[in-house]
Amino acid sequence: MSNSRPVRIAIAGGHRGASFTSALELLQDDIELVAICDTSEQVRVRWIDSNPSLRDYDTFEKLLDDREVDAVFVATPMALHAKQAVQALNAGKHVLSEVIAAVSLEECWELVEAVEKTGYTYMMAENYCYRRETMFVRNMVESGAFGEITFAEGGYIHDCRDLNIHTDGTRTWRGNLRAGSSQTSRGNGYPTHSLGPIAQWLGINRTDRLLRTTTFVTQSAARHEWARSVLPDGHPDSEAEAWANSADSASTLIQTEQGRVISLRFDSASPRPHNMVHYGIQGTAGAFVSRRHDEEEPLVWLDGVSPGTSPANFNYPGMARPEGYEAMGHPEWQVLWELSDRYEHPLWREHGEDALRSGHGGGDYLVLRDFARAVKSGSKPPIDVYDAVTWSSIMPLSIQSVRQNGIPMDVPRFDRNS
Ligand SMILES: NC(=O)c1ccc[n+]([C@@H]2O[C@H](COP(=O)([O-])OP(=O)(O)OC[C@H]3O[C@@H](n4cnc5c(N)ncnc54)[C@H](O)[C@@H]3O)[C@@H](O)[C@H]2O)c1
Repeated sequence: MSNSRPVRIAIAGGHRGASFTSALELLQDDIELVAICDTSEQVRVRWIDSNPSLRDYDTFEKLLDDREVDAVFVATPMALHAKQAVQALNAGKHVLSEVIAAVSLEECWELVEAVEKTGYTYMMAENYCYRRETMFVRNMVESGAFGEITFAEGGYIHDCRDLNIHTDGTRTWRGNLRAGSSQTSRGNGYPTHSLGPIAQWLGINRTDRLLRTTTFVTQSAARHEWARSVLPDGHPDSEAEAWANSADSASTLIQTEQGRVISLRFDSASPRPHNMVHYGIQGTAGAFVSRRHDEEEPLVWLDGVSPGTSPANFNYPGMARPEGYEAMGHPEWQVLWELSDRYEHPLWREHGEDALRSGHGGGDYLVLRDFARAVKSGSKPPIDVYDAVTWSSIMPLSIQSVRQNGIPMDVPRFDRNS
């Protein structure tokens, strides 16, 4: 499309979509919101009240008939993402999709085929990849600061029990994913916030690949206890059987082609204060650990840069101890931001102030910016369809692995034609 005018975008799913309003205002030269689609009249009315010039649609199909819409931001419930993205691509629209991109391997392949067939821009809005510390660490990894990376870990640990049941006692779409007999919750049900940044650090789908993955889950306890405490006696979802096919916590391991191991945890049921970031990385020359709560800072230790030195370097015969070694002391973590002169990511250096005025630690702004730029220039988006389905496929693969007592599942190579 022409580079001169803003991309005309419509939001489908007006709840999560609303978090993007400040980012849209800041990026109005690149992207313009022209329509809203939501099956809920209440949600549509709220949007129109604050922005009367918007066109509004009560079905996704009507939205796709709008020829003045270039792109659709799919922010509907998770199980609809792949189907609606394929529909939108086939209708000639570019797509920005909320996470996760697809919930089954069949959907992953359908999405890949639709993007390859139509050639429209598809990007997954994995905003955690754009947070300041995840981009900072990415810059460090790419500069070789950690040496050779051997291990990385990530977690999405967020008590979301109140998002399972509406106040009238009916299940939400999240509740439907976690309850019942479909076993959709016995696995890693939301892998991309934790895996996305790690996959970028490790160059997954570029210089390395995800090979195989295994998952173990805990019993289902906290979600059921909570449901029993908020629902009236006799309500079917207050019974343990309603959540028996669910799990409170899932632990996933992934082996990469280069021999690295990735560890992921997903837990949306256990009670604890929320901490958005759970990451760590280990290399041959240093390590990073994210903060455990808002009062802490992310920490890093780099051999030869941070305070202290590893005793492993100099304690063997023939290894020369440098002058002053005794005074160097043991290695000590340092606050990540102390290295910002050297490793702040250029995107954050340039756009950090604007990014922080939008949601999710700046991620929403940078996602939207990169999507608009990819559409306008026709270039490959930074989180393309192959990344989207590779990261999302951990959900169905983890469910398959749990069903088979934790045996490793091969991760498909979705970019077979590229
Ligand atoms: N990236 C993030 O940080 C982040 C944060 C929150 C939610 N999400 C993702 O965003 C998506 C939406 O989450 P949410 O919390 O807003 O859910 P929600 O249930 O609060 O809102 C979903 C909205 O979609 C509408 N909807 C349902 N079916 C529709 C259809 N067929 N067509 C159009 N609209 C439809 C509903 O009426 C509702 O307004 C989920 O996939 C979730 O995983 C991502």
